[in-house]
Amino acid sequence: MLDIRIEKAAVKKSKPADDSLGFGRHFTDHMFIMDYDAGQGWHDARIVPYGPISLDPSAMVFHYAQELFEGLKAYRRSDDGIQLFRPDKNIARMNSTCRRMCVPEVPAEDALQAIKTLVDIERDWVPHSQGTSLYIRPFIFATEPQLGVHPSKKYSFVIILSPVGSYYAGGLAPVKIRVERKYVRCVKGGTGEAKVGGNYAASLLGQQEAEENGYAQVLWLDGIERKYIDEVGAMNVFFVIDGKVVTPSLADGNILPGVTRASCIELLKKWGYTVEERKVSIDEIREAYENGTLNESFGTGTAAVISPVGEYNDEGYSIRINDGKIGPISQKLYDNLTAMQWGKAADEMGWIVPVE
Ligand code: COI
Repeated sequence: MLDIRIEKAAVKKSKPADDSLGFGRHFTDHMFIMDYDAGQGWHDARIVPYGPISLDPSAMVFHYAQELFEGLKAYRRSDDGIQLFRPDKNIARMNSTCRRMCVPEVPAEDALQAIKTLVDIERDWVPHSQGTSLYIRPFIFATEPQLGVHPSKKYSFVIILSPVGSYYAGGLAPVKIRVERKYVRCVKGGTGEAKVGGNYAASLLGQQEAEENGYAQVLWLDGIERKYIDEVGAMNVFFVIDGKVVTPSLADGNILPGVTRASCIELLKKWGYTVEERKVSIDEIREAYENGTLNESFGTGTAAVISPVGEYNDEGYSIRINDGKIGPISQKLYDNLTAMQWGKAADEMGWIVPVE
């Protein structure tokens, strides 16, 4: 059990209206912080007023990006109870990213206690309207003040909270995605499956160019053959081809092992769909489109939930899906997942953790 010191904010912020939330633009009154020193381990767990963090300019995170993060959500039920969705999966993934980044792991029970305690203190910040939630962003960064390239001996683990609406401005409206042919996100053996800021930094230029051309995101292809589909950066991707659900497998370590991805696979299998986790080439998608068997495509992610894809554009070749409308499998997944998350349906899968 962590001994968390709590220092309450003297002045509380005014809360934004539910219909003006957007994604990740507002932050609550408090944050969780815990420090690590080699020889001492994690120590000094505290919840303090939300505010700037002071770091030495030589702190290693600024120079060598030894940093990682997670994303999960707290939801308000209609009886005003607050609940988390599969936090154990996010904590396990955080620790797997820690191992890849030579960062000391945080004991899973301590991480869960920190999340629950902070969310409980901020429960009034969990928004009420349909489709809204409180996004939880845990992150760890290297703070040792020195410039040699090796793992830091000091870290901070911080959790901040942000009331959010939909990730995309259009909500559940199908998004347009550009197939990225110039840049790559990762290669086998790299950090593709780790949730590190560096992956997102490397994606920005492609993302910016796609946005300038009217696309919401880019579809990353594998960095070696430039042929197999990896993911969309902020989402994992699924395709429905001739009634079967197909999604890139985790085997090459190129893509993030998404919690929403895993949950969709489990639900689809339970409902009797065939789900194939395997290599999916962009040529296969073009071919399925041409012969009329590409029924649907959607992205999955904590932030985006289920995001139908209306079009992929591959260097001017347009793959239009389901007439640019949400398909039945995407809709069914969205309805069922969100019903569980918002406590409107029974927790048949055992995925819900209440914040008492
Ligand atoms: C999430 O879905 O939680 C993500 O981390 C995606 C993105 C906002 C970075």
